[in-house]
Amino acid sequence: MRNLILGIESSCDDSSLAVMDIDSYEAIFYSKISQETKHSKYGGVVPELAARLHTAALPEILEKAGPFLKELKAVCVTNEPGLSVSLVGGVSMAKTLSVVLNLPLIAINHLVGHIYSLFLDKNADFPLGILLVSGGHTMVLDIDEFGKINIILTTTDDSFGESFDKVAKMMNLGYPGGLIIENLAKKTSKDEFNFTVPLLHSKRLEYSFSGLKNQVRLEIEKFGENITDVDKQNIAYSFQNAAISHIMDKLNKVFEVKKWSKFGVVGGASANLELRKNLENLCDKYNSKLLLAPLQYCADNALMIARAGIEKYRKKDFTDYKKLQIQPKLDLKKI
Ligand code: KG4
Ligand code: ZN
Repeated sequence: MRNLILGIESSCDDSSLAVMDIDSYEAIFYSKISQETKHSKYGGVVPELAARLHTAALPEILEKAGPFLKELKAVCVTNEPGLSVSLVGGVSMAKTLSVVLNLPLIAINHLVGHIYSLFLDKNADFPLGILLVSGGHTMVLDIDEFGKINIILTTTDDSFGESFDKVAKMMNLGYPGGLIIENLAKKTSKDEFNFTVPLLHSKRLEYSFSGLKNQVRLEIEKFGENITDVDKQNIAYSFQNAAISHIMDKLNKVFEVKKWSKFGVVGGASANLELRKNLENLCDKYNSKLLLAPLQYCADNALMIARAGIEKYRKKDFTDYKKLQIQPKLDLKKI
């Protein structure tokens, strides 16, 4: 009989379940039903639709995970942050399973889950600097050797991933925009628009993508109906260039002070290869080791939630099902 843990993720538009071996970190079962194509025509996630799709997808995946339920030692679930109507789907399922199977229940912060995507099959290794780039958040974090998380900088408006989504929406390219824009940008190597990099000459240590988004909007509006595929490629290239330059400019300033010996990048947008290339160069410059998640586990998934759950399981950090609540807003303190 193995010691297995079940992870459940439903904080946004992905329904996912994973079963992991607590002792070996072996992924025993993993499945994800993504709602991306369902939201695509709206250019973003529609909460009501997301909620309904989770209700259908989560039980469908649970049925497939059925053979492993008898070996479970705990159930863990993302309860914060995220879309409230999405979070309730996973949390209700986790509570029910914990009651019916008489298993301890573990609450996982989605962003902590992303951090554990760096350590899916191995022991975690702190202290560590982190760049977290997802659809909901853009942050640089400092994690000390005890797992205490300090937010070094964050965005004052849109997130990095969200700005890709919005630029894709402006050009009617579908959702999510990250990979669409990255692939379009690959088709050219000329910075036609030379968008202003946000806050380049400002001492403010923060991110802001709304000004860049507006610069892009104005250029797209100038084209109107006559916009061509080549124009779209040029816009994608120049936008991505400015967005990544902004990330790197502020990160460079933080690195000068922090001098992390290890640095990780996580979140859906960490799959961006151009961003990864820039981070590799930065880490080389500061003699820092760059930690990356496997490409297929950068985006939301339950494997990272199960992996984060193992840490809490070892500390017996359980939550009574009557007390476990969803927490849509971020409250990031400790790993
Ligand atoms: O972490 P994630 O799956 O969901 C949230 O927790 O938000 O991140 C999704 C975000 C989306 O905004 C998506 O457009 C962005 O990550 N993304 C990318 C890329 N792949 C996904 N952004 C830029 N380049 C990519 N290759
Ligand atoms: Zn995420």
